[in-house]
Amino acid sequence: MFFTMPQPRSWTDVFLSFTALTSLFTPVVMVKHENFKTCTQAGFCKRNRAFADDVAQLTSWTSPYNLDPSSVSFKDGQLSGTILKTVGKSGETVRLPLTVTFLESGTARVTVDEEKRQKGDITLRHDSKARKERYNEASKWAIVGGLEISTGAALSRDTEAGSTRVNYGPAGTHEAVITHSPFGINFKRDGETHIKFNERGLLNMEHWRAKVEKPQPKEGEEPPPETTEETGEDESTWWEETFGGNTDTKPKGPEAVALDISFPGYEHVYGIPEHASSLSLKETRGGDGKYSEPYRLYNADVFEYELDSPMTLYGAIPLMQAHRKGSTVGVFWLNAAETWIDIVKSKGSKNPLSLGTKSVTDTQTHWISESGILDVFVMLGPTPKDITQKYGELTGFTAMPQQFAIAYHQCRWNYVTDEDVMDVDRKFDKFKIPYDVIWLDIEYTDGKKYFTWDPLTFPNPKKMHNQLDKRDRKLVAIIDPHIKNTDKYPVIDEMKSKGLAVKNKEGNDYEGWCWPGSSYWVDCFNPAAIKWWTTLFKYDSWKGTFANTFIWNDMNEPSVFNGPETTMPKDNLHYGNWEHRDVHNINGLTFHNATFEAMVERKKGEVRRPFVLTRSFYAGSQRLGAMWTGDNLAEWSHLAISIPMVLNQGISGFPFAGADVGGFFGNPSKELLTRWYQTGTFYPFFRGHAHIDTRRREPYVPGAPYTEIISQALRLRYQLLPAWYTAFHEAATTGAPIVRPNFYVHPDDAAGFAIDDQLYVGSTGLLAKPVVTEGANSVDIYLADAEPYYDYFDYTTYTGAGYHTVQAPLDKIPLLMQGGHVIPRRDRPRRSSGLMKWDPFTLVVVLDRAGNAEGTLYIDDGETFEFEQGAAIHRKFVFDHETSALSSTDIGTQGPKTAAFAKAMAKVRVEKVVVVGAPAAWEGLAEVAVSEEGVKESKGGRRAKVTFYPAQGVKAAWAVVRDPKVAVGKGWRIQFA
Ligand code: GLC
Repeated sequence: MFFTMPQPRSWTDVFLSFTALTSLFTPVVMVKHENFKTCTQAGFCKRNRAFADDVAQLTSWTSPYNLDPSSVSFKDGQLSGTILKTVGKSGETVRLPLTVTFLESGTARVTVDEEKRQKGDITLRHDSKARKERYNEASKWAIVGGLEISTGAALSRDTEAGSTRVNYGPAGTHEAVITHSPFGINFKRDGETHIKFNERGLLNMEHWRAKVEKPQPKEGEEPPPETTEETGEDESTWWEETFGGNTDTKPKGPEAVALDISFPGYEHVYGIPEHASSLSLKETRGGDGKYSEPYRLYNADVFEYELDSPMTLYGAIPLMQAHRKGSTVGVFWLNAAETWIDIVKSKGSKNPLSLGTKSVTDTQTHWISESGILDVFVMLGPTPKDITQKYGELTGFTAMPQQFAIAYHQCRWNYVTDEDVMDVDRKFDKFKIPYDVIWLDIEYTDGKKYFTWDPLTFPNPKKMHNQLDKRDRKLVAIIDPHIKNTDKYPVIDEMKSKGLAVKNKEGNDYEGWCWPGSSYWVDCFNPAAIKWWTTLFKYDSWKGTFANTFIWNDMNEPSVFNGPETTMPKDNLHYGNWEHRDVHNINGLTFHNATFEAMVERKKGEVRRPFVLTRSFYAGSQRLGAMWTGDNLAEWSHLAISIPMVLNQGISGFPFAGADVGGFFGNPSKELLTRWYQTGTFYPFFRGHAHIDTRRREPYVPGAPYTEIISQALRLRYQLLPAWYTAFHEAATTGAPIVRPNFYVHPDDAAGFAIDDQLYVGSTGLLAKPVVTEGANSVDIYLADAEPYYDYFDYTTYTGAGYHTVQAPLDKIPLLMQGGHVIPRRDRPRRSSGLMKWDPFTLVVVLDRAGNAEGTLYIDDGETFEFEQGAAIHRKFVFDHETSALSSTDIGTQGPKTAAFAKAMAKVRVEKVVVVGAPAAWEGLAEVAVSEEGVKESKGGRRAKVTFYPAQGVKAAWAVVRDPKVAVGKGWRIQFA
């Protein structure tokens, strides 16, 4: 190079330098579409979509994939066979080994590989060192369990010529009907087909073939046609592709894998994050209100992303669920390469089980990945909970976070000095605003060298950490995967000398540009790299970090400023010589995983739950920490889209999710900032963050009345931390989302299937509809059932399915409590969650129509892994209208540490019980009788005072029991009336 690229100070600089020459008048806020491919610009997507179009034109079409019946065998829950693909007119056949594995969980797994490539019987072009097999290791990263093979699965006795049938699943209620010619599978539950593979004949495994070199045209001659002689296929995108000045050499040629998957009778499909789109996915083949591009999964650093778009974002979870009244089913497409998914819906078919002749909607999807084997898991539900549970058994449940991680996080790019950090910390206290964590972005480093501190601005990290620790607060520091290419930096020297960097196509260390300028990327697919990475986080290696330092992993798509689509070239090589093409969408997870491992190993004997935030993710990332939705904008529309995005994460197995509160780019108005905090109160991951060029906006900055309103929102989050923690525990043990959309909670309420602007918190019955529009004074909240819903703050009652208007002036968060729940809280305001450890609890008993309620509470030390040995309290509270009693029973799992934890918590009590919707008959009630396990009854029994407040107009009656003095960890009973 003849010049040195100036080091960008911010994303904006990078962006401007890339675009300055091409456009002087670009609107400020706009994704650069030209930086990212459309389907037509991605050869394999274009080819497969064109194939789908061609097939749709034909009056009759037969897929050229046939399962050779003589190859089929079934043994120990697994069916094997060979699919033969017939190529064009030549009649040549390609052998594709098939397995269908029936799992104990009722999930079926279908894989298709390519025999020639399995055997390595191919030649790569350009002397490439890449592996010859199709990538088959995605499961190594994504799958952690649930693979026990079913002992009950068996070939069906009802044989029919031309197909093989297998009965499997709970009590044999599932059936896979595998048709031979053409190959296809129908998955049935209780005799009804729910999922169809290759119904439309779009199965397409682009098999390996040698490039036939064509003679170069002589001057004046026509260039040869870009079609193969043999099959007439357009091969213009088979051998090489150029985009944005980068050429992909494609040493393996075309190798896409595609399949159509239909959901007969299903109108709604959800999932496949991450997109800035609605929860119920849209059709993608054009038309009014529909997209014309498929949903894309190719993890990328999309600058100023646009809304209501199927464009790719930072993370990918290829799990889709289809839902209709009475049934939810799912498919998990385990492929780590660039993937596009087309969705079309058609009216027409009849649902054989529905009464009458009403036509139903079918949803048809078309999955197209650039490379790898075909590997699909099929889940037949029948409920949304079954899908999240079964998917979680495969890819792991959300890691149980430390308590602080679910409290409020204060971030900005950047707190500029250690004094600045301590000043912000003091101001939170001064204004009595609770917070748990302050964050450091890239500027804390010495010249963007991770694992160093800027000696001028952060001379005393110890003092800073100590001050935070006084209130049990934490610090999160950013560590990115690009390692600065510079002298006198041991990290880069070690990484290079140990051979742990990602390689380019020639097999040399790959160099690209990111925040530090010239950089190399640690290859966390390599076990040796993970081991080495772990050494960097030891307290004696990274000086100035302590037990209250935690980590933020960013730019791990990976983001490469001068790479194709702002990421790595696809022909780069990773550990094991897998091409980047094959593993791209897993890259972020591997880096997150290495950091998670490093945090576990920081210091011998110190075993604390790690906290690592990631921007890029894949199926399985939920085991490692939290995610956020990247670089959003300080605009109302971005506030609004954050709700469906966070909900979608929840139903897709990675519920510990949030968006930058306040919006990353730009300066929010005070109203927007306030509304964003009120919304953020309902993100599982709750962090304020802002770009380096924005004005300061910590909650104490906007002043009256905003600061007080924001503080109220934060206090609400802290008050409800016991409910949130319990919801996290449920996610960590069952896979249920932490915040839940209407369809998940009310799977039979068809009118609510597309609702994605309101959310339920765990199983608490708390229903929030945050205000996401400017100047609003009310919202219309949707109730799915006939239970009473009570305003959280004043017990105004809303009853009746449908929309209800809830007043929402600026200081009000629309938050209702569905009848039938017991909500645990801690009401004493504190400066951080750590300081609430020994605080007493309040239980809010919200009665349903029948006068009953129940709920759970989970508590552990919020820090260590001792809960795995039973160091936890897990209670179930039931209010039964027949006995008029509230009781607490143990639902915990006993372990060697249960008793010690119970002892430590013995003094923590329930200080208040509020009964909302209290029966009018309690008027005049002054006392309740209290009994507690292990406590001797005194003469006349134990009593506590109760006050009854009669209903007033629309406001429900309620009653408060003050200080029943029962231990939160014990069995007890409070007898009303
Ligand atoms: C990326 C992140 C953003 C961060 C910035 C600087 O843009 O998404 O959150 O502040 O990098 O590290």
